[in-house]
Parts: sequence; C-alpha cells; structure tokens
Amino acid sequence: MTSKFFLTVCSGVCLLVAACSPSQKISITKANSLKEAYKNNFLIGAALNTSQIQEHDSVADNIIKQHFSAATPENIMKAEIIHPAWDTYNFDLADKLVAYGAKNNIKINAHTLIWHSQLPSFIRGIKSADSIKLYMENHINTVAARYNGKVYSWDVVNEALNEDGTLRNSVFLQKLGPDYIVEAFRLAQKAAPDTKLYYNDYNIEQPKKRAGTIEIIKKIKAAGVRIDGVGIQGHWHMNDAPLDKIEESIKEFSALGIEVMFTELDLSVLPNPRGRNNSADIAATTAYNESINPYKNGMPDSVQQKLAKSYEQLFQLFLKYKKNVTRVTFWGVDDGQSWLNDFPVRGRTNYALLFDRKLQPKKAFYSLIDLKNN
Ligand code: XIL
Repeated sequence: MTSKFFLTVCSGVCLLVAACSPSQKISITKANSLKEAYKNNFLIGAALNTSQIQEHDSVADNIIKQHFSAATPENIMKAEIIHPAWDTYNFDLADKLVAYGAKNNIKINAHTLIWHSQLPSFIRGIKSADSIKLYMENHINTVAARYNGKVYSWDVVNEALNEDGTLRNSVFLQKLGPDYIVEAFRLAQKAAPDTKLYYNDYNIEQPKKRAGTIEIIKKIKAAGVRIDGVGIQGHWHMNDAPLDKIEESIKEFSALGIEVMFTELDLSVLPNPRGRNNSADIAATTAYNESINPYKNGMPDSVQQKLAKSYEQLFQLFLKYKKNVTRVTFWGVDDGQSWLNDFPVRGRTNYALLFDRKLQPKKAFYSLIDLKNN
C-alpha cells in the first residue's frame, strides 16, 4: 500500500491517518500520553515537588496533567514538614495537592507516615518510649485521618529494613520494639479506613531484603491488620536494573495477595561511586569529584539510547505482570528536578527521568509510548 501519512495531535492523542483511496482510508488511534497508553495496565505516577504542587510552571503543569494518573508528594507530606512541632501541623501544601489531584483526576499516594528519615527535630529530644508511642499515635491519627478517602493510598511505613532483611535500628525500633510496624498499620487502618495502605522500601527485590519484607507483610496479616500493597522503590542504575530479581519479587509479593507497585522509579546514568552497591539511604552520601560527573555539558546519544532501552526492558517486565502491578511512579517529572543530581553525591548532572531539563520528552519517553503503540 503506498500512502501518505498525516499526523494530527489533539489533547494527547495522535491520529495517524493513512490517506489511501477513499474506500481504503484507515485511521489508527495512537496514544501520545503515558497515562493513556498504559490506562488498561497500571497507573503512571510522578513524584511532585513543592513548585509543581503550587502550579508555578505551566509547562510542567501541562505535562503532569497529560501524562500522569497518579502522584506522590516528593517531600511535603513527610513528618518534618507536615508535623514540624509536637502540637503543630502544617497542612497547606498537602491540602493543595489533594485538591489538585481531585481536580485533575490524579490519584494521590501519600508519602509517608512512619520513616526514620526527614523526621521533625523535636523527635531527637524525646527520650521515653511512651512519648514516641504517643507521637506515632498522634501523627497517624491526625494526618492519616485528615486525608481518609481523599488520598488514594498511604506509604504507611517506609524503609524499615536493613539490606540483610533484619529490621533497621530506627528510633521506632529502639523505643517500641519490632511490633511497631504492625501497630503503625493498625493505627492507619483505623484512621484511614477508605485509603489503601502500603509498605514501601528500596532494594526489596534483592533476596534477603525481599524475605524481610515478606516477613513484615505476613506479620501484619497474621495480626488481622490490613495491608493492601508493597512498593518497590526502583532507584536503579540504567546498566544494572536487576530484572530477574524484580520478576521473582513480583511473583512472591503477589502470591501474598497484595498489590505490587514500583513507587520511586529512576535510572541513574552516572558512575556509581560505590560500585555496584546500590542504596537509596538518604544519609549515605559520598564526596564529589569531576570524574563521577561526566555529562555536565550534556548526555551523549549513546547514553540516551541505553537509558531508553533500560526503561523499555523494565516496562516489558511490568507489562508481563500487568495483572499484579498496579502503579509505576517515576521519582520526578524531569531531569532538572531529580534528587539524583544531589544523591549520593551533591552537585552532579544526572539524566534519570523521561523529560529533560527543558521539559522536552526524551528518547526513553518515546520508547515507553512505542512499547504500547506497536
Ligand atoms: C528524597 C527526595 O527526593 C529529596 O528531595 C529529599 O531531599 C530526600 O528524600 N526514598 C524515599 C524518598 O522514600 O522519600 C526519598 O526522597 C528518596 C529515597
């Protein structure tokens, strides 16, 4: 068939019209929106920073509305911001995000209730177990209850595990003992009966940490407490995404009867100063040197291609398990926003996401669209 093609773009959908003889005329609808492309498979999310929640940049705002069906606040619902002093709560930005989600049909995954990092400074002054217990009760009863049914889901507990699958020695473990996780979910279930409840962590696709996660999930269920899903953060390197272990994890977590999500996906393209040791522990930082910041003037095409390929392979896997995977969230919208410019080394230029610093879609973006259109 010899024919000309015309491409019309309207509200995120490309109509590819093949102009043949009138009787042969065909029209193929092609999605040019991530959330449209994957709408029958899983939610597509992005972490939003303060400026995005405040709708400061209309270009970023249009991208968010066009491509994402879910959003996670990158920082503003963490305890240090939403609960800065014992009796003080700061709900302004979280309320704004919830309204933004409702207006634009974007499901909000609230992040996060109980986490050892980004805690308010007053926690350091608390010495007694009773006061930590009271903090946890007040925090969950106040914050989770306010957004019950208004946010789609909560990361109830974040990063409770060490790499070997044992419990991290956080202030919560120290003061409350190993049952604090079940207690956090019990409180959340009561305060937010109409919101889904998740456990979220990094590297839990790795066998030992995965086993620790399964233990946590089983323990919550055995106590008769609700847990609806598990979030694998997905902070990986583009050369080293552990596909086999991710696949095993999807199978093992799904076998527990819960949702599986990829909640903080980004693929670093820069040299890892710690070799293959991959940690998203925000306290584990390393000093800067020029040799580990090779693309400060731009990313070579070969790297662009490799990043696209890695994202494509990951999404092929996610699609294989589309019955089990309910959401894939990128940890940011564009490369300029990415925390990987400052983690684990401050002041680098990374290219881990689907949109570049000018908010233009990258090859990786098109590879994910093409995966669904072809
Ligand atoms: C990061 C944010 O992206 C940064 O802006 C902040 O300075 C530190 O935290 N795991 C998580 C996220 O669960 O909350 C972290 O987010 C990244 C690692």
